[in-house]
Amino acid sequence: MTSKILAFAASNSSVSINRTLVDYAATLAEGAEITTLDIHDYEMPIYRHDREEADGIPQLAHDFLAQVGAADVLIIGFAEHNGGYTVAFKNLFDWCSRIGPAVWQDKPMLLTATSTGQGGAGRVLAFAEGAFPIFSGDVRAAFSLPHYDEKFDAEAGRITDADKDAELRAAVAKLLA
Ligand SMILES: Cc1cc2nc3c(=O)[nH]c(=O)nc-3n(C[C@H](O)[C@H](O)[C@H](O)COP(=O)(O)O)c2cc1C
Repeated sequence: MTSKILAFAASNSSVSINRTLVDYAATLAEGAEITTLDIHDYEMPIYRHDREEADGIPQLAHDFLAQVGAADVLIIGFAEHNGGYTVAFKNLFDWCSRIGPAVWQDKPMLLTATSTGQGGAGRVLAFAEGAFPIFSGDVRAAFSLPHYDEKFDAEAGRITDADKDAELRAAVAKLLA
């Protein structure tokens, strides 16, 4: 059966390096039906208790959860901002979690992260990997790519480092197993 993959970057940027990595990871899932989304299409006011009391939860949070629900598996690529989630992702996640804690709806997930430095956005990746099972995420694999500029060919849209490429392919295989 064809897997429906929902892939997106948890990034603030329209030229996201994590988006390019997520797009590449999705192409490694041969025969899958790939849907990508831009989390900025789900931009909501900053979560505030008082706002929720006054106006309820925005429809966009429900719409995002419906996209998750329609997928078989998820690939999420994390940009790291000051060691944690980007504001764009955190706000979306916070609103969704107010609908209920099962944000990830038991979907198998591959979590990726990249940065131009040697850390490869590993801190936010490790945090998400630890936290997402609490939100009904079935995290099958996590993959970090340090030194994006040296190890990813943006024009060709692929990893150039053979070891890291093999590691990502193994992670995608675990996602689909
Ligand atoms: C506010 C801010 C904080 C950042 N903090 C980190 C960080 O903690 N670790 C890191 O590796 N890169 C950090 N960076 C650099 C990002 O990794 C870089 O902007 C990267 O391109 C973000 O991924 P994206 O292109 O997918 O959005 C930061 C960038 C900004 C704008």
